[in-house]
Amino acid sequence: METNKADVLLGLQWGDEGKGKIVDVLTPHYKMVARFQGGPNAGHTLVFEGKKYILHTIPSGIFHQGCLNVVGNGVVLDPFIINRELDQLDMPVEVLQESLFICGKAHLILPSHRLLDAAFENKKGNLRIGSTLKGIGPAYTDKVARTGLRLIDTASDRFMEKYNALKTEHFRLAESLAFDHKSLQLDGLPFDDYEEAWFRGLERLKALPRVQSEVFVNETLDKGARVLAEGAQGTLLDIDFGSYPYVTSSNTITAGACVGLGLAPTRIGEVFGVFKAYCTRVGSGPFPTELHGKEAERLRDLGNEFGSTTGRPRRCGWLDLPALKYAVMVNGVSRLIMTKADVLNELESIKVCVAYDIRGQQQSLLPLTTESEELKPLYKELPGWQTDLEDVKSFEQLPPQLLAYVSMIEDFVQVPVDIISTGADRKQILTRKGAGILQRLAAI
Ligand code: GDP
Ligand code: IMO
Ligand code: MG
Repeated sequence: METNKADVLLGLQWGDEGKGKIVDVLTPHYKMVARFQGGPNAGHTLVFEGKKYILHTIPSGIFHQGCLNVVGNGVVLDPFIINRELDQLDMPVEVLQESLFICGKAHLILPSHRLLDAAFENKKGNLRIGSTLKGIGPAYTDKVARTGLRLIDTASDRFMEKYNALKTEHFRLAESLAFDHKSLQLDGLPFDDYEEAWFRGLERLKALPRVQSEVFVNETLDKGARVLAEGAQGTLLDIDFGSYPYVTSSNTITAGACVGLGLAPTRIGEVFGVFKAYCTRVGSGPFPTELHGKEAERLRDLGNEFGSTTGRPRRCGWLDLPALKYAVMVNGVSRLIMTKADVLNELESIKVCVAYDIRGQQQSLLPLTTESEELKPLYKELPGWQTDLEDVKSFEQLPPQLLAYVSMIEDFVQVPVDIISTGADRKQILTRKGAGILQRLAAI
């Protein structure tokens, strides 16, 4: 019997590829959208009807009526931030009860995890990761050390006892790092005020429908309904395959959807890989094609490259094809989606990295252990299209220079680009005729 499979959508670079927008565009073809890893370090932007929403924990299918949005076991939850997200959604409780489901196995980010994140970064000095300081690393550390607290644990009579013991341990550790926690502000609040608001948020989180994600997702597939797993961060931030230690603390790749939702590998269908027409990175770590000075500023301004979660300016650079090919490989990407093509509209020419020079040796495989200083990208230069894409109504009508850019990418990575995004709005999307994902999905 043919098994119904879940599709996965994830980022192929260093995050912020526009995953949220694309999930929102694809959701009408799915019954369920499920987040499988990460937490409030993510910021997924959705723009429609003149409004902009930034989601951190809540899946990007939430604005489509009838869609079941699942926060899987692999996600880490901050009740304070979820509470704020729910306020932003401003949805009637009855609607939320039918559209948002949280896995009881998901781990909690305690306020003291955020304290530790700040203490560790402070200690690292110049070697800091540039964490979003949302407590992600410390929360996953406790999960793996088997000392963490899950959402289901809140039902236990001993929850407060365990919470206080863990908090005490975190404070002890922060003090051993000589971290001055008295001046710490969490989202603009002193620790005690934040903690109070965190517990209020926890009550709201506890009232949301609770599921076992592995059961809920597999049963939905068994019924023949379509499921889309939504990734956070990007492949080059993966804990195993990213530029370690400048990574996040979860598996952001396709395999992360298996462990973060309870999906067997045989239940993975299409893998949609989202990438920007250029590259950005927020936080520290190697970035071979990074631009500096005026060139970087120009891309940052054109692309409005400022973090959705932290507001930090994003580092900007050219598209890195060996890195993209690597990401396609570890994820088993079956279809590519290119975003922010419009950002390059006015450029006279566009560079694309096709290989690296490492101490005189040419190489086309991304070396994740090599520091950027030893690595020189080798570029191919293509003419820009210097055309506004606003009036382009079909993929096939895109300017020939842009289509040549796409062909070059496809030839290099050997996977088709099926969708191109030409603006932040839900409607600014072009799908290739014939091989198009949307046509295939619509036919089901
Ligand atoms: P995510 O984390 O992958 O969901 O991406 P973010 O939301 O953090 O960052 C992507 C940014 O680019 C957001 O501000 C989006 O509104 C915006 N965006 C998405 N797609 C496009 C596009 O095709 N063109 C332009 N100009 N902006 C886009
Ligand atoms: P979305 O889902 C871009 C980066 C941080 C830092 C590193 C570790 O919106 O694409 P962490 O807070 O996880 O300890 O930070 O990873 N980072 C992201 N960069 N987009 C994200 O998520 C990110 N989530 C984490 O800047 O360099
Ligand atoms: Mg983002």
